[in-house]
Amino acid sequence: MCGIVGYVGAQPALDVVMAGLRCLEYRGYDSAGVALVTTDKMFTEKRAGKLANLEKALVDREHPTATTGIGHTRWATHGAPNDHNAHPHLGPGGRVAVVHNGIIENFAALRQQLESAGHELRSETDTEVAAYLLELETTRGADLTTAMRSVCQRLEGAFTLVATSSDEPDRVVAARRNSPLVVGIGDEETFLASDVAAFITHTREAMELGQDQVVTITSHDVEVTDFAGMPAQGRRFHVDWDIVAAEKSGYDYFMLKEIAEQPRALADTLLGRFIGGRLALDEMRLSDDELREISKIIIVACGTAFHAGLIAKYAIEHWTRIPCEVELASEFRYRDPIIDRDTMVIAISQSGETMDTLMALRHAREQRAKVLAISNTNGSTIPRESDAVLYTHAGPEIAVASTKAFLTQIIACHLLALYLAQVRGTKFGDEIGEIVHQLEQVPQAVRDVLATVEPVRELARELRDCTSVLFLGRHVGYPVALEGALKLKELAYMHAEGFAAGELKHGPIAMIDEGMPVFVVVPPRARGVLHDKMISNIQETRVRGACTIVLAEKGDEKVATYADVLIPLPVLPTLLQPLVATVPLQVFSCEMAAARDHDVDQPRNLAKSVTVE
Ligand code: F6R
Repeated sequence: MCGIVGYVGAQPALDVVMAGLRCLEYRGYDSAGVALVTTDKMFTEKRAGKLANLEKALVDREHPTATTGIGHTRWATHGAPNDHNAHPHLGPGGRVAVVHNGIIENFAALRQQLESAGHELRSETDTEVAAYLLELETTRGADLTTAMRSVCQRLEGAFTLVATSSDEPDRVVAARRNSPLVVGIGDEETFLASDVAAFITHTREAMELGQDQVVTITSHDVEVTDFAGMPAQGRRFHVDWDIVAAEKSGYDYFMLKEIAEQPRALADTLLGRFIGGRLALDEMRLSDDELREISKIIIVACGTAFHAGLIAKYAIEHWTRIPCEVELASEFRYRDPIIDRDTMVIAISQSGETMDTLMALRHAREQRAKVLAISNTNGSTIPRESDAVLYTHAGPEIAVASTKAFLTQIIACHLLALYLAQVRGTKFGDEIGEIVHQLEQVPQAVRDVLATVEPVRELARELRDCTSVLFLGRHVGYPVALEGALKLKELAYMHAEGFAAGELKHGPIAMIDEGMPVFVVVPPRARGVLHDKMISNIQETRVRGACTIVLAEKGDEKVATYADVLIPLPVLPTLLQPLVATVPLQVFSCEMAAARDHDVDQPRNLAKSVTVE
């Protein structure tokens, strides 16, 4: 949430910072701003709305040719998204500028202290408090780095702060607690950003900062300490993903590109996992004995990742015989869950930074549970704080609505379930090999679905003006229905609900009226009774006037009769069906958003990485 960039080097800082912000706009797009600093001169510009508004404003203003600068693209928490509340925020004398990601939880008390001392703050944000405190420290003689350390000791909550001062124009100082920040180390230039995407065109050498660390960058140096001033180490790493992965490459939207990338993302996630007849995870700090002791699994995740967890539960219980619960991360720690050292908590998070999931994970660790992360972001906080990690290899996901990360999360959970089955002996090696072989067929199956989705696009355009859409599923098709509804809500801003089809008669069926589109995910024919029950449910909606849009495996003649629109799916085992059934629903939502003239990649009010609770 919120994108942050800092730069010190030899290039015009404005160009570097703006280019960085363009790559981070997916993190928040309520407002944007920059600060440029030269000796004794601080220049700032900020605007409500998307980055384009800031770009326009900058065209009309003369600005210094600075080589030090910071920038911000905002997802508002405290204070409405207007020009006033946009970052950067300045200290009382306008010498220190600050951008911030996160929430300073004790800002009201700090603000009151400042106001009682006679200061008049100009915005409603929590960030401005930090700008004031920093500048006041420097007025008392501290350099910016020392000021940052002492201010951070007074702050509560989650924050990445990046600051610059016209008294020290050769440097940018930053601090992090519970919010992401990476350093990019170039040739005579240094970068700070929420995500490597902001500097990948300049350098691939990066450093990840630890919790409660302060970093000072100059063009040729990076100094890291803890909040008390003790020298500390960041973790150096090389960014190896391809720059093309962060570009649209001819697609109208990142979302379309990412939907199309799913076969490759799935294949990459499967690659190299099954060697010599044995499965392997990326990082495993738990012994086989500890894994054999697990008596319960709890999956914690949010949004789309939560739906991946709901799907995974079926395979985990079926293949490992370990009871598995799936819980919204934001609810988990507040209900006093029963966890002990024999519980395995699986945290699923594309970004690896989602605050709700991180807090659930920390709660689980405090209760001595074993924690395993499934994440798409190497080096992010959630994998770093886990006992074991399984990375999805979806590549950078830029569109706010998650697509390729979702499918790879599901397949990663399948791999994990098989890994546990292998260690605990609940499946024979040849059975595991057979399932891995079935998983390896999935990328091609997704390719086949993608080749036949044009009618789904047309359907979205036809249904452009409808007001409400229902999604029904049973078994693993139920979370697919939930995901279909979530995608439509977030992209098309339209009423959409996902239901377990059996629940329809217990209430929701009352909503159905003439012409209402109802998507139905039909289980494979091999599921016998379940398949037939679903056919009854389709009939129940149809006789009440629904327009039934049925996703069923190819050759399912029995269901075809009851479908107003039939979307054929490749034949796969039941547990793997969500990997193909989700794809037409993603395409439908994407097309619906475009047909309703919405911003497909940046839906209103949302941000990609939700680093506040
Ligand atoms: C919806 C979507 C969100 C995320 C959720 C968790 O399309 O993208 O619901 O799935 O915010 O994010 P991560 O996986 O980064 O923890």
